[in-house]
Amino acid sequence: MPAISFQSVSKHYASRGGASNPARSTLKALDGVSFDIEQGEFFGLLGPNGAGKTTLISVLAGLTRATSGRALVHGHDVQADYAQARRLLGVVPQELVFDPFFNVRETLRMQSGYFGVKNNDAWIDELLESLGLADKAGSNMRQLSGGMKRRVLVAQALVHKPPVIVLDEPTAGVDVELRQTLWQFIARLNKQGHTVLLTTHYLEEAEALCGRIAMLKSGKAVALERTSDLLKSASSSVLRFKLDSVLPAEFAGKARVTGRIVQLPAHDAHEIEQYLAALRQAGLSVEDVEIRKADLEDVFLEVMARHGEQPLAGARAA
Ligand SMILES: Nc1ncnc2c1ncn2[C@@H]1O[C@H](COP(=O)(O)OP(=O)(O)O)[C@@H](O)[C@H]1O
Ligand SMILES: [Mg+2]
Repeated sequence: MPAISFQSVSKHYASRGGASNPARSTLKALDGVSFDIEQGEFFGLLGPNGAGKTTLISVLAGLTRATSGRALVHGHDVQADYAQARRLLGVVPQELVFDPFFNVRETLRMQSGYFGVKNNDAWIDELLESLGLADKAGSNMRQLSGGMKRRVLVAQALVHKPPVIVLDEPTAGVDVELRQTLWQFIARLNKQGHTVLLTTHYLEEAEALCGRIAMLKSGKAVALERTSDLLKSASSSVLRFKLDSVLPAEFAGKARVTGRIVQLPAHDAHEIEQYLAALRQAGLSVEDVEIRKADLEDVFLEVMARHGEQPLAGARAA
């Protein structure tokens, strides 16, 4: 039985057009999404802003009702069997939400009570320790920094030891130290058998952690593969160089340009030679030529471009 099963999940919102077109229209935040995540997987859900990642997680957590289709956790329908499904899930939400009047330990005890878990202090202590919160147990929630609040949200999601852990951009805007603490801890839980579903904008995190990846674009799943197969499927290399003049038109659709830096995906050495020859013929002098292996970010941009997104100039920091 899969840990998570999405079956033709759609979520439509009624939206008004702009001033020029005040007619009602339908926004398809999710448009027939279907895939399963097996128990014990470390699974990545990627997609640009607005792709529907948070909506899909909200449907799973029973916070949003799907317009059609259904979602199951260990075979339990998230609507028909809400309590069972919810108990199996630990969800770390994208938004920081917390009650400012309680301290960290009280917050975690209340969350335990919500799931009917009694005498949970040993596990709460382990969570506090593992997430670097031990010295903050008595601190009031409103006194904590954003990064510390994020850690409490993670602890809160795990307080009932859920077999399925869902993290919605848990590292957005947090420091390197928390990212490392968090990933060490989540990787350990995954080794112990917990299923992990993760959304993140840090594609190097997804590449390092996730065995399989789904990509969402405008509410549709546009890729679903093992991470290693995704990396093999794309251009194998990237030619990177600096250029002071305008790039010839023949490269325009293929290249990613960040200021002076130009990156061209290539499938093999022959293609790289062709690029360099074409640049030489155009009389352009290139500097700092480098060839590197394509990574998940290159694959992500390729997949998004194939599905109608403009190549994202400047998506990779120079
Ligand atoms: N409550 C809502 N009402 C109307 N539109 C919404 C609502 N929640 C999300 N959306 C829209 O649904 C789309 C998907 O949003 P979201 O799931 O948050 O994307 P992501 O998490 O991938 O950035 C976006 O276009 C967003 O504006
Ligand atoms: Mg989101």
